[in-house]
Amino acid sequence: MTKIDQYAVMGNPIQHSKSPLIHQRFAQQTQQELAYEAILAAKDNFRQSVNKFIEQSGKGLNVTVPFKEEAWQIAHQRTSRAESAGAVNTLKFENQQIIADNTDGIGLVRDLTKNQTLLLAHKRLLILGAGGAVRGVLQPLLEEEPENITIANRTESKAHDLVTRFNPNGHINLHACGFSNIPRQKYDLIINATAASLKGNIPAIAVSLFNDTYCYDMMYGAQAKPFLQWAEQQGATHCADGLGMLVEQAAESFFFWRGTRPQTGPVIAELKRT
Ligand code: ATR
Repeated sequence: MTKIDQYAVMGNPIQHSKSPLIHQRFAQQTQQELAYEAILAAKDNFRQSVNKFIEQSGKGLNVTVPFKEEAWQIAHQRTSRAESAGAVNTLKFENQQIIADNTDGIGLVRDLTKNQTLLLAHKRLLILGAGGAVRGVLQPLLEEEPENITIANRTESKAHDLVTRFNPNGHINLHACGFSNIPRQKYDLIINATAASLKGNIPAIAVSLFNDTYCYDMMYGAQAKPFLQWAEQQGATHCADGLGMLVEQAAESFFFWRGTRPQTGPVIAELKRT
């Protein structure tokens, strides 16, 4: 009897991951027979855990904190968006090769443009944060051709490093600043990609920036609340958390592995109810 195709999400911690539920729903919906579990890997044992999973006929993995950079390193091939992100959330095992993709950015873009119907072309974007989360989404955001993207970070030098990486020739409208010197223009969209909320903090930026602006937090649920509630109080017209991004990145991973695209709407609706 042939074993059904095995997939998993690997991280540390991992017990609260919603990925198993999301992928089970995708599999039911598209009538694909597969198994998807959550695997806790020891922090110094990622590579061995991946090898073990491959030996047990694993076909693909989602990778989450803190292993996304290491997953990038162990890949034999990378998609262009994975290459530029320097970190990956999706691995596919095929013909003795590890092929890597980063679906976070396209997940964010799809949530914004499809689910929130917010077109990004010619818009002004302000991104708060300059860590791995931002690096992972910049290329797909730039491909939507916004008028400009400003990256503001508590540690300003890290925002400059990101701009140098993605805009080495200064040809595109990508700028860096600290929180205290954010250019005063009207932003159509402010995205919080900092880890501030994890400790219940709000990025220290001027409240006037929120007037009549769309706000998005890349975290979801309780972790997104402090920023989004605060943004609303400061005049943001619409606020959304990253639940849609979570489901959309999963759908793109599913497509990368299985070549079929599941519907995300019913799964987002189900997760919102729970
Ligand atoms: P990730 O991979 O999730 O982006 P990271 O690389 O540790 O995680 O980056 C965390 C981001 O949150 C950084 O931009 C960090 O700012 P610094 O570069 O100045 O450290 C930001 N961050 C964390 N705590 C913050 C806080 N209390 N206020 C504002 N920004 C914060």
